Amino acid sequence: MSKLSTTADGLRLANPFVIASGPPGTNANVIGKALDEGWGAVVCKTVSLDASKVVNVYPRYARLRGKASREIYGWENIELISDRPFEIWIDEFKQIKDSHPEGILIASIMEEYRQDAWIEIVERCQDAGVDAFELNMSCPHGLPERKMGSAMGESPEILEEVCGWVMQTARVPVWAKMTPNVTYIEEPTRAALRAGCQGIAAINTIRSVMGVDLETLRPEPTVEGHSTPGGYSSQAIFPIALRMAMEIATVIRDEFPGRSLSGIGGIETGADAAQFILLGANTVQVCTAVMKHGYKIIRPMCEALEAFMDRHGFESIDQFQGHSLQFITGHSDLVRLQESARTVDQAKAVVQADADWDGDDFVDQSDALARG
Ligand SMILES: Cc1cc2nc3c(=O)[nH]c(=O)nc-3n(C[C@H](O)[C@H](O)[C@H](O)COP(=O)(O)O)c2cc1C
Repeated sequence: MSKLSTTADGLRLANPFVIASGPPGTNANVIGKALDEGWGAVVCKTVSLDASKVVNVYPRYARLRGKASREIYGWENIELISDRPFEIWIDEFKQIKDSHPEGILIASIMEEYRQDAWIEIVERCQDAGVDAFELNMSCPHGLPERKMGSAMGESPEILEEVCGWVMQTARVPVWAKMTPNVTYIEEPTRAALRAGCQGIAAINTIRSVMGVDLETLRPEPTVEGHSTPGGYSSQAIFPIALRMAMEIATVIRDEFPGRSLSGIGGIETGADAAQFILLGANTVQVCTAVMKHGYKIIRPMCEALEAFMDRHGFESIDQFQGHSLQFITGHSDLVRLQESARTVDQAKAVVQADADWDGDDFVDQSDALARG
């Protein structure tokens, strides 16, 4: 058995890499492709009972590139949930489980604020054989206009109620997917865990406006001359996602031990994944990197994660999951630690107090205070 294999909420994954809900899991064909390429699990594109209400526009993506390198760092989308009929999804869930019985298939679901709708969608998906659920309480655009997605996830009371409806019905593990568009992600996390969800997935995209075209003066992505705020993903969101994963993992460690975390946001390499796991994730999810580089990135990701583990002598994911949480503390503690260690490098003329900043050496002084 590979040292990357892992178990989360009873789901046995060949490796911790999971396709996040979005275009890379949008029909049976691409889900089969992802499983064939070796992804540990796939979360399908979010499904709902009535796809006729879902109407997408074009262009629906806009990208932030490095000024010199042209590399894509940020990706905004105004894409909605799946526009494919629910009946087709049910057939495809069955097909995928027939063709890939060992593959882990997680149904991402979203419904309106009605108990009967949530119960129906859970029952029909689990009867079709899905291995787990991810509740999309977090899509930041389009759906909130129908009081769905992040409109629910931003309200801990509604989130707890809806998760409770799901937990009454679900016979397979349930992860609640969090929106980052809140001040304290610990609050909705606690609400979902109080309702009994086995795990948390985080984060969904961050509300954004990608830019304004300086010729047309229209905001982007521009649809018939107009735009609407969308969801930001890719490498640029990594540090924000990592911080939120750490906060959720701390709540799990201190208040809900045994629950799981699926970390999401800007993950492109095995090294990125290792950092999420060190700060408490059990699995990691990847969406935009697959859209940028294709399904085959699973191989270098697994190789790099395994190389990291070898370097530190870790034999399993469990051996380092959450290891670095112990090194997160408050600022006053950092001051105390530094005072007793006296580690400030005087030779580099590091700014000690705000009065030391000098207009002529400003860039060098900034540099000396930075790491990386
Ligand atoms: C084009 C696009 C469509 C997405 N659609 C969904 C969706 O249907 N349901 C969902 O829960 N998340 C959706 N997401 C969010 C991703 O699953 C993920 O949470 C987010 O993109 C951050 O991860 P990443 O940086 O690896 O892309 C979508 C993201 C993108 C870029």
